[in-house]
Amino acid sequence: MKVTSWYAGWVPLVDIRMSRSTVAQRWRLSDLQQSMWGTEELILDEILKRRSGRAFDSRPIPDKMLESILEAGRWAPSCANTQAWNFVVLKDTDALRKAHDALSKGNAWGKTAPIMVLVAAKEDGGCGSHGLPYFTMDVGLAVENMLLQAVHLGLLGHPTAGWDEEKLKQDFGIPDEYRIVTVVFFGYEGEIENLDERTREKEQKPRTRRPFDEVVHWDKW
Ligand SMILES: Cc1cc2nc3c(=O)[nH]c(=O)nc-3n(C[C@H](O)[C@H](O)[C@H](O)COP(=O)(O)O)c2cc1C
Repeated sequence: MKVTSWYAGWVPLVDIRMSRSTVAQRWRLSDLQQSMWGTEELILDEILKRRSGRAFDSRPIPDKMLESILEAGRWAPSCANTQAWNFVVLKDTDALRKAHDALSKGNAWGKTAPIMVLVAAKEDGGCGSHGLPYFTMDVGLAVENMLLQAVHLGLLGHPTAGWDEEKLKQDFGIPDEYRIVTVVFFGYEGEIENLDERTREKEQKPRTRRPFDEVVHWDKW
C-alpha cells in the first residue's frame, strides 16, 4: 500500500506551549490530530500523552505506583528472555542529593523529581545475536514500558543520558562490569513557571518527528 504524506519536513507532534499544570491539560489534541493521519483514535492514550517533560513536582509518589512502574519494566520483552535490565531506585533524600551532583548542567531540572531510576545492564548481558548490543534494546523496551505505565497513572517520566556514569556507579555500588544505560526521572508534573528560563524554553518547543514517509518503507526500502 502506498501512502503519501500530506505534509513535508518536520512537523510538530504536540505543541506543549501551554502553561497549565497537568499532563492532560498540556495536550493540544488538535496538533496531534493533524499529525497522525487520522490514526490517533487507534493509538493507545498513554502513547499519545507521553512526553519528556522537565517540570516535576517534588511531592512523593505512592509506593504502589512506583512498584507498578517497575513491574511494567520487568515484564518487557527481551532477547531470548535475557532481561538485561537492573533498576537502582533512588527515593531517599540523601541518595537523591548525592545523585544530583552527578547530573549534567542541562539536566538540573531533574533535581525536583522525587524518584530517579538508574537503569544498568551488563555490556554482554543481552543475547549475542548478530553481534549487536541487544542489552541496550532490552533496557529500551523496559524503559518505554515504565514510561507508559507512568503516564497511565497520571505521572511524568523522563529518560536521560546526561550524567557522570562513573560517579553514579561508585556512589550506588553498581558493579564494574555493568553500564548505566539511562537514568529515568519519575514524579507528578509540576509548574513550568518554576523552571529556569533555558529549560522553560526547551519545554515550550513543539515536539517533532521525522515524516511518516521518510521512516516507513512499504514492501522495500
Ligand atoms: C536515550 C535517551 C537519552 C535522553 N537524554 C536526555 C537528557 O539527557 N536530557 C533531556 O532533557 N532529555 C533527554 N532525553 C529525552 C529526549 O530529548 C526526548 O525523548 C526527545 O526529545 C523526544 O521528545 P519526547 O520524549 O517528548 O517525545 C533522552 C531520551 C532518550 C531516549
